Amino acid sequence: MTAIDTKLPRLRMALPGPNAKQVIALDERHISPSYTRSYPLVARRGQGAMIEDVDGNVFLDFAAGIAVVATGHCHPKVVEAIQRQAAELIHISGTDFYYSQMIDLAEKLERVTPGREPKRVFYVNSGTEAIEAAMKLARYATGREKFIAFHGCFHGRTMGSLSLTASKAVQRKGFGSLISGVFHIPYPNPYRCPLSGQAHDCGDDCIAHLEKVVFKKLVDPADVAAIFVEPVQGEGGYVPAPPKFLRDLADICARHGILLVVDEVQSGMGRTGKWWACEHAGIEPDILCSAKGIASGMPLGAMIARASLMTWKPGAHASTFGGNPVCLAAALATFDLLEGGYIENARRVGEHLKDLMKGWPERFGIVGDVRGMGLMLGVEFVTDKKSREPAHDLRDRVVERAFHKGVLVLGAGENTLRLCPPLLVDEEQADFVVRAIEESITEVEGAA
Ligand SMILES: Cc1ncc(COP(=O)(O)O)c(C=O)c1O
Repeated sequence: MTAIDTKLPRLRMALPGPNAKQVIALDERHISPSYTRSYPLVARRGQGAMIEDVDGNVFLDFAAGIAVVATGHCHPKVVEAIQRQAAELIHISGTDFYYSQMIDLAEKLERVTPGREPKRVFYVNSGTEAIEAAMKLARYATGREKFIAFHGCFHGRTMGSLSLTASKAVQRKGFGSLISGVFHIPYPNPYRCPLSGQAHDCGDDCIAHLEKVVFKKLVDPADVAAIFVEPVQGEGGYVPAPPKFLRDLADICARHGILLVVDEVQSGMGRTGKWWACEHAGIEPDILCSAKGIASGMPLGAMIARASLMTWKPGAHASTFGGNPVCLAAALATFDLLEGGYIENARRVGEHLKDLMKGWPERFGIVGDVRGMGLMLGVEFVTDKKSREPAHDLRDRVVERAFHKGVLVLGAGENTLRLCPPLLVDEEQADFVVRAIEESITEVEGAA
């Protein structure tokens, strides 16, 4: 197969092309309608930050398979690791047998995960499974039953993690009772404080709400097993929590014997310019959940916990596929590439991107806020700057316009556009994307 010989988009026709139309028609007949496709991209192959569709159009991918392909599409070192491992041992199950790749990756993850205590790792196949494992371990280790999570949070869609998820009502509608004992509290969004409705760093308000309302009126802190938090809310709209808020939350957990579970499924593996987003606040979680970027697109997740918490007995929790040798080989190659320069690249190119975009709220009438860290950046759209009324449709139109310019981006939350490219993108690609989105915003503003 020939290489994709461009690092910028190259469109050959109006989208979608004829082959894409055919696939979409069949998809509509055969595939579950629960998926949320924003525009008609039908992928054929990927390389680095580029995606070629089934009609030969080439796109610049600033969505990365929902923040997954950390090292880009089909990085040669990742492909080589997968192929080598697949020829040797595809599966045997770490539940019943031993293989050294489980340890090799665990040692690396433990080394880069904050906290003075030794840690242990439990492998899964996805983000939601990492959260399920954390929920179970938190109950098992504390003997407590209740959980606290945040409005706007997304932790997955299986019944346990869905009980924490409070991102969009559609994700819960129709699924009946979820697990009981989950309390949701406001997440500090400095652009629109959920408690005051104003723009200010409202971390203190959210902490006061937890201590003065939730712990006083709803649940005794001594009954709470864990607080689950995304250091940067992902599906909720790419909202970084103020660092002091995270530190205060860690203090509250320590004071009440509550476990702090940091969900780094989207924000981890170098995306924010450090291994984990929680490092920006200097906190040490009791449990850290990872998935998405960990294996550059192979299905793998990890729950990393303080060793002294992992007291559960054989059979208490396990997974047939979790930590499959082929996924672990991809993760080991991914880890080396991230450590070898891609995390630093995410920090550098992320700063460059943010510099280019930071003036947008002044420049464009429909952009309310630009925020984020590293290559996890969000642009929030509003119909009115004063009332900060969310502009869901305008955001969607900007995302769609960008697609027609060859740039793949996704929405996050009600009205935010997210940029979460592979961590290897360069300044030229960043410049192109910024120009394409600026043009898209101008067009959408013009038509509004
Ligand atoms: C922060 C966070 N946690 C958990 C999940 C669930 O991951 P998965 O879709 O792999 O189950 C996601 C997915 O978007 C996520 O962003």
